[in-house]
This record gives sequence, C-alpha cells and structure tokens, in this order.
Amino acid sequence: MTGDEPIEGSESGEPLPDGGTAGADDVALDPWGSSTVSDYRKLFEEFGIEEFEEVLPEVPDPHYLMRRGVIFGHRDYRPVAEAMREGESAAVLSGFMPTGDPHIGHKLVFDEIIWHQRQGVDAYALIADLEAHAARGLSWEEIDEHARNYLLSLLALGFDPDEGELYRQSENREVQDLAFELGIEANFSELGSIYGFDGETDVSHMQSVVTQMADILYPQLDEPKPTVIPVGPDQDPHVRLARDLASRMRYFGVTEAYASFEATADESAVIAEAYEAREAYADDPGTPRCAEAAEWLRGEGGARFEVPDDERTVERAAEKLENAGMEPLRPRTRFLNRRADEDAFEALIEAVDGEKRVFEAHVDAFDLDREAAEELAREVEVEHGGYGFLPPSSIYHRFMTGLTGGKMSSSIPASHISLLDDPEAGYEKVKAATTGGRETAEKQRELGGRADECPVYELYAYLLAGDDDEFAKRVYDECVGGDRLCGDCKEQAARLMEEFLADHQEKREEVAELLEDADIELESSRAR
Ligand code: TRP
Ligand code: SF4
Repeated sequence: MTGDEPIEGSESGEPLPDGGTAGADDVALDPWGSSTVSDYRKLFEEFGIEEFEEVLPEVPDPHYLMRRGVIFGHRDYRPVAEAMREGESAAVLSGFMPTGDPHIGHKLVFDEIIWHQRQGVDAYALIADLEAHAARGLSWEEIDEHARNYLLSLLALGFDPDEGELYRQSENREVQDLAFELGIEANFSELGSIYGFDGETDVSHMQSVVTQMADILYPQLDEPKPTVIPVGPDQDPHVRLARDLASRMRYFGVTEAYASFEATADESAVIAEAYEAREAYADDPGTPRCAEAAEWLRGEGGARFEVPDDERTVERAAEKLENAGMEPLRPRTRFLNRRADEDAFEALIEAVDGEKRVFEAHVDAFDLDREAAEELAREVEVEHGGYGFLPPSSIYHRFMTGLTGGKMSSSIPASHISLLDDPEAGYEKVKAATTGGRETAEKQRELGGRADECPVYELYAYLLAGDDDEFAKRVYDECVGGDRLCGDCKEQAARLMEEFLADHQEKREEVAELLEDADIELESSRAR
C-alpha cells in the first residue's frame, strides 16, 4: 500500500483552479498510498466534498488560504463557521505522522490550526506516532526526533500550547479507550472496502485507523461540539468513516415521518410527496388518510416517479400506507431508539414537550421541529452517559506541486522545501524550480506566463505572499500579462523563501523552551 512516500498524500500534475475536466482520470483517495488527486472536480462529484467557496461568506475574517482557494473543499463546515461567529464552543484538530521533516505542505495545516485557535476555537494537534510505527514501520527513536521537529515548527508558527492541547497517540489513554469503543462499531470488511485492507494487513495498522477515528472525536469527549479537521483530501476516507462512526455511537436518531409505521428514507421521501399533494386526493385535505395516499400513489401520483427503482419504492410505500388504512397522514418528528437503555429512552419520552406518541422503539413528537429534536436527543443522551457526538467537519487544501514539476515528494529533496532546510538551500531550490514560463523572454512578454501551472507562483500564493492578497494578485497579473519574467520572479521568490526559513528557524529556537514546558511527552516511553 505504501508506495513512494508521498508528501501530503501527493499530487500528480497541477491542480487547475477550475478543477480540470470531469471524467479525465480516476481519483483514488488512499491515505497511505501515493494517491493522485489530479482532478479536484471529481472530489465534489464522486465523493460529495463540498466547494469551500460556498461557505466562504459565512466565515468570519477568512484566512488567506481560504480566500485564495487553496482550501478548496469541505464537509459540513457550516456549524464550525457559525460557532466562530456566535462565539460558541468549537474545536479544530489535526494530526501529523512523524515520518520525516516537517515541510511547507505541513505548514498549511499548522497555519489552519493556528488560525482557528486565534478565532477562539479549542485547538488540538497530535503526533500520530502509533500510525507511523504501525503503517510506516518507523522506530520509536526516529519518531521522537521527527515529532520534536513538527512540534517546534507548529509552535514557531504561533500555536499557543497553553490554550490548545498537544498529544501523541501512544501516550493518550483516553484516545486509546475511545478507539476501542469505536472499534466495536467497525468491522473488518468495512475497513477492507474503505482502505483496501486484506488478509495481509497488520492488525496494528487497522488499530491505527480506529485510533485516528478516536483522535477526530477526542475534542468532543468533554461535550459535543462542532469540530473541524483540516487535512489534505487523501484523508477524506478517514473523515467519512469518522462521521459514520460518530452517528453509530448515538443513542437516538431523529427523522421526519408522516405516519406511525416505520419507513426507509427513500420511502419517506415518497410519502412526503404524497402528503404535499393531499389536495389532489383527500376527501378532507385537513386530514388526509393513509389509504387515500396509497391509492393516489398507485394511480395518478405514481406517474411522477419514473425510474424503475423508484417504482419499487413507490409500491413499498403504498403498501405501508394501505396497511395503515384510515390513520391520518400527519407530519411529525421521530426519535428512533438506536442503542439507549430503558432509562435513557424513558427520559427522552419524558422530555418531549407537547403532543407525542410512544411506540416500542420510537417516539413521535408533533410540536417539535427537527433542530429542536436533535438538540433534545443529544442532551438526554449526554445526561445518560452517552457521547452525543456531532459528526466531525473537515476542510481540504490543495496539494502543492513539486518544485521540479510533478508531485511534491519527500523522497525527492529538490521537489520540496523542508522547514529545516538551510535558508541558502531553500534559496537555491527556488532558483532551480520549474516555472510556467515561455521558452523565450520575447514570447513571455507577448503571451504572458502560465501562473496557473507554475510551482513558483504557488509558493507566492500558498506561503510567500502571506496575508497580502494584493501582492499575490500583482504577481499573478504581472505574470499572465507578460510584465514579469521568470528570472526576476524566481529571484524575488527565492529571497523571500530564504528570509522565511531564516526567520522560522530563529523562532524554532525561541520556542524550544516553550515546548519543554508544554504538556506533551517528547520521549516515548516505548523507545529502545
Ligand atoms: N493519518 C494522518 C496522516 O497520514 C495523521 C492523523 C492521525 C490525523 N490522526 C489524525 C490527521 C486525526 C487528522 C486527524 O497524516
Ligand atoms: Fe512563474 Fe513567475 Fe515565471 Fe510567472 S513569471 S511563470 S509566476 S516564475
């Protein structure tokens, strides 16, 4: 599974701002392989990642990586944005596998954590040492050395260890206990189909997956709160599984329903349409009857569902409605008892205000909207010893293109810049980088450069221009307008990189003491 060690998951080719053409090549999201994400649009279409641009207006004082589209996608980021706007509690967490030196790709994630922390969000950063040991085979000694380097850079960039929390997986008993509980909800075939695990996969590698699930939910152990996980899109399978497990751990589910019987989500959608159309068939549209809706679905109403698969759903819905006979069709909010004990279920029933009907494994509430019901279910669950997890959210950043073109890879030193590179070495790497320039200066003046395909431009946009949007835009405009030539452009970028590295490394020294005082074990008790 572990090919050439990818930096940041990895990337083949330039991430075009428009996402390229859908259908071009396959997107594989593999957290441990060198997955290729050459087509960001597919991530939206196939995996249901949402476009970050759409939530951007809801984000208070967005980070430049958000403004510039480097953070391009998200899952369910709205609750986090809302909590930041309202000053309510929220968390940010990400993890780092200490497999090598921290590099400028990791800096994106460090910056994302730090930015959220400065917005008042509880910040967590963890060292994924169990994963590095199990999935990558690193020794504890190597892990300790790399872990320290990650942490120094995180602190140097501004993470506040007094406000936030740092931990390593191997030393966090709560995380390991939670991992064990979550593991009860996941089985081998599921991990197999998500990650391609097979009979040869180490048990500890699988354990590192449930550990990551526990990492992601760890900030909610105190109390349920919106939590964002900033990562590269290669980590999306982990995020999806964590969202699933979070809901599987819940005592109660909340759905909308129209009659006392249970229906699947698909059937419910059909029944909802029948309810909306009640004027068309009910003797008394104030009290439409289930049997009337059944008849309508089998006749005139059924015509609106054309796909054969829909037809079967329509027939199943009609059958259930028919069996319910004269029962009125009436919208309600339903609490399903998934795994609550008797006490908790009783308490929930008690807590539902207004008209309600109690069934063996569900309660229907007639005077509660869905949101209020979700909140109530969570409250009762937490009071009765449940976790009440909210599904974790995520944000995804683009991978940087390697300086030598192609993907940025830690096995090709010239392709990336380590945060520990000598400033002069950083300068040289930028000077030697591939560009989106034309063959001759003359052509460049005439046609303009291809900033969208230029790793040097990426350096400006992702890092060197910092918060200065105008500067980033000027570089872009001058480049594509033919007013900027690659030699000078690289010289400027190389100088800025040199300064950045010198400054960063100075700060690393300054925070060394801060790290010693921080509440994290720097030497593994397992090291031999
Ligand atoms: N699997 C991540 C990586 O390969 C590291 C990681 C472990 C992580 N736990 C996490 C990332 C929790 C985000 C959230 O880099
Ligand atoms: Fe890249 Fe700069 Fe050349 Fe434009 S001018 S192609 S941004 S190096």
